[in-house]
Order: sequence, then structure tokens, then C-alpha cells
Amino acid sequence: MNAPSLDELFDQRVAFPDPDAQERLAQLVGLDAQIDSLSKMLGILVNPDGLRNWAKRKHRGAASAIELLVRRPPLVILAGDVGSGKTALAESIGDLVARREKVSVTLYPISLSTRGQGRVGEMTQLLSAAFSTVHDHASKLKNRGGKVQGAVILLVDEADALAQSREAAQMHHEDRAGVNAFIRGVDRLATGGLPTAVIMCTNRLSALDPAVRRRAAEVMTFTRPDASQRSAVLAPALSELGLSPSDIAAVVKATGAHNGRAVGCSFSDLTQRVLPSIVLDAYPDGAVTPARAVEVAKSVEPTPSFRESAT
Ligand SMILES: Nc1ncnc2c1ncn2[C@@H]1O[C@H](COP(=O)(O)OP(=O)(O)O)[C@@H](O)[C@H]1O
Ligand SMILES: [Mg+2]
Repeated sequence: MNAPSLDELFDQRVAFPDPDAQERLAQLVGLDAQIDSLSKMLGILVNPDGLRNWAKRKHRGAASAIELLVRRPPLVILAGDVGSGKTALAESIGDLVARREKVSVTLYPISLSTRGQGRVGEMTQLLSAAFSTVHDHASKLKNRGGKVQGAVILLVDEADALAQSREAAQMHHEDRAGVNAFIRGVDRLATGGLPTAVIMCTNRLSALDPAVRRRAAEVMTFTRPDASQRSAVLAPALSELGLSPSDIAAVVKATGAHNGRAVGCSFSDLTQRVLPSIVLDAYPDGAVTPARAVEVAKSVEPTPSFRESAT
């Protein structure tokens, strides 16, 4: 097998700051805590001197706690239900980090759902190549003489295969090799002290491999939106379509768990199915009415939650 080229290996690479990413990040609802925590964590991983300088000003001599934080493994896991904003956040958070730390940040995204499912050894080879590329890029950016030159984020998305516990009996050899390649990659980046971080996204928190989890500086969980989060997504668009606050509340209710529905709509159900369906229902001859909007919202079946659909 030849080593895969950059374009084969990664989806669209992005250099931050990037206005589109900034906008995407701003559109995410209800993730303020995750955004705050992830951006700080990445900020420290890509620019530990920022933290050290802060400590010099605020906690002179407090080296122990600071170094523990700086030395955490460069891995963050975003885990949780489908359509909850993991990919959207992972793809856009680099913009905030780049602006805040005033460095350029490059995102290398690789999705394991669409790749590495073919020949035996493919996922392992992809992961090894991805980590090598990021390692090489980050090595060139390594802090020389005080100034950080930039940073690299490796996004390993749809990493469900890697999240399966290594101890699971049914996990066959190739999966285990993939997990091992991932762990080796993270360890190598950590040892190198490079301005880089790995974000891994998975729908299967319960099946996270213990060895992967142990390496994560943090595991952040994502859940379906509650009523107020659904309202935050729906209200601006529905209000533009002429619905009143009480009409909007009825649509919000219709997208929740009720009448035998185990779960309500996910964030992506709301943006990609409910709102478009409400518009399509009226187009081309009618206009959106509150009654139809509620009916349409009720008719959209929420995506089953991952755990529910798994056997
Ligand atoms: N918290 C959120 N706020 C607003 N929109 C969201 C949110 N989470 C997801 N979405 C919408 O759903 C789409 C798909 O989300 P995605 O990040 O792919 O979910 P996941 O990776 O968790 O399965 C996003 O592009 C966005 O339009
Ligand atoms: Mg995703």
C-alpha cells in the first residue's frame, strides 16, 4: 500500500482565523460551557506560555499546578448523542483559539466513518499517516525563542470504531490495531511537547476504550436539546416567518418527547428537518401558518438516539 496523499487522508483542511468558522461557532446554541472549556484547553495545549505568563502575574511560584495542567495529554473527547453539535463545534472552535491566542491554527479533519472501512489495515494506516502529518507540521511550528509560530488541531471524527472497548470480545484484530495506532499517535504528540491537540468525536461514550479515555485531558458530553435550547434554535427562524411567541412555544413543544416518543428532536433534526419541512410544506402556493407549523413539527420523527438504535 502506498502512503495516502494529504488530500486522500484529510477532508478539507482549514486555516483559522476563518470567518465562516466564526459564524458557525456563533450559531451553536446551548454549548457555552463546552465552548469555554474546550477553547481554554486548546489554548493551553497550543500555547502553554500563555498560561505560564498568567501564572507569573497572578500566582508567582505556583509551578506545580500549572505544570500539571500544561502536561495533560493533548486529547479531548467529545462524546454524546448524534446531531448534538460535536462535529460543528470541533470544526469551528479553532477559530476562537486562533483569535484569542493570536496564532494561526490549522485544522486537519479526518472522519473514520467514511474511511478505513475497506481493506484490512486501512484504518490503522490512515491513523498513522494522519498523526505523522500533524506531528511533522507541528514540529515546524514548535516554539523557538519565545514566540509560538502556530498550532495544529487533528480532528478524528466519527471515531466510533475506536471507541469500542479494546476489551470487548467481539472486537476483531483490525479494530484493536486502529486503537493502538491512535494511542501511539497521541502519546507521540504528547512526548514531543508540540503545539497541537487532538479532538476525537464519538457517539458511543459508554463504549469508550479505557486506554483512550485514560489519555484524554477531558471527556465532554453532549446531549439532546431541552425545551429552552430547542426554543433558542427555532425561535429566531420561526419569528421571521411570522409566528408569535405562543405559536413558537407550541412548535417547541411538538418537537419534544411525547406520545410514546422516547426522545425529542436533536439539534440537527431541528435545523435540517423541522425548519426546512415547515417551509417546504407551505411552498409554493401557501404561506407558513402556526397550525401547519405545529402539525409538520409533530410529523418529524426524532432521530433515534445512538444508544437506543444500537443493539
Ligand atoms: N448546539 C447546536 N446549536 C445549533 N445548531 C446545532 C447544534 N448542534 C447541532 N446543530 C446543527 O446540527 C448540525 C449537525 O450537527 P453535528 O455537529 O454534525 O452533530 P454531531 O457531530 O454531534 O452528530 C449542525 O451543523 C447544526 O446545523
Ligand atoms: Mg458528527
